[in-house]
Amino acid sequence: MISVKDVSYTYMTGTPFEKVALKNISFDAADGEVLAITGHTGSGKSTLIQLVAGLIKLTSGTVEIDDLPVADKKNRRSVGIVFQYPEHQLFEETVERDIAFGPRNFGLSDAEISARVDEAMRQVGLDAGLKKSSPFELSGGQRRRVAIAGILALKPKYLILDEPTAGLDPLAKENLLREIFGDVKKSGVTIILVSHNMDDVARFANRVIVLAQGGILFVGTPRELFARDEILSRAGLEPPPVTKLLRTLGITSTALTPDEAEKIILRTFGHDK
Ligand SMILES: Nc1ncnc2c1ncn2[C@@H]1O[C@H](COP(=O)(O)OP(=O)(O)OP(=O)(O)O)[C@@H](O)[C@H]1O
Ligand SMILES: [Mg+2]
Repeated sequence: MISVKDVSYTYMTGTPFEKVALKNISFDAADGEVLAITGHTGSGKSTLIQLVAGLIKLTSGTVEIDDLPVADKKNRRSVGIVFQYPEHQLFEETVERDIAFGPRNFGLSDAEISARVDEAMRQVGLDAGLKKSSPFELSGGQRRRVAIAGILALKPKYLILDEPTAGLDPLAKENLLREIFGDVKKSGVTIILVSHNMDDVARFANRVIVLAQGGILFVGTPRELFARDEILSRAGLEPPPVTKLLRTLGITSTALTPDEAEKIILRTFGHDK
């Protein structure tokens, strides 16, 4: 379990550029859950996940992973984080070497490394035939997958993804999400998904945290969130398209998927299915 208690964070304290990024943040992420973090640009999402991953030093409050401080040696391998546009960090000559980079630093055997590379490529839907290719001859979507595979190959217990589908075309985005939330999730990994996209939050998250100006504005299920128009508008977020459709038709209940919206519409207009 990830347990965040009373975390605040200020950038450039004591300078004229001082900026409070987070204020009194507390939440837990239970094992096996998909927790979405959303909020307007600048609301503190990336700062928060970097604190949770132990990449920036806590100055107030605590982050515990499996009951130990995030900075504890035992937690060094617990959290894997995929930054926004992670493909910009690829640098090895081949796809295989890039994905193997982390596991190699762990000092694993060649056989174990090779097994992890194969498994991670499968998990993100990369064809095994691309192993010897240079990451630079791949498409943007494929490069993104290589970068994510490099984190999965570390077999983190907790996986944090910062806008993993930003900039991908709709088909690549859909496939990547299906792979992450199908195969990867099945392996029992706890996922924290940072996303602006309420449709993705609706489809994949068990719970969602809404940040606004560095504070928590809302914690609950996606369905609870989409029923709270005032929270969405305060956070500068739009409900998912299926819920918007229902509102346009004058229906106040909330749908998370097109199928669910269809049932509600048929029921409302008297064509029971
Ligand atoms: N390195 C930094 N130095 C100073 N201020 C920073 C730094 N990084 C972020 N901030 C400020 O902290 C606040 C929170 O930023 P953060 O990047 O966490 O927001 P975010 O929710 O991830 O935004 P986005 O949706 O645009 O990615 C913003 O006001 C930002 O300007
Ligand atoms: Mg960010």
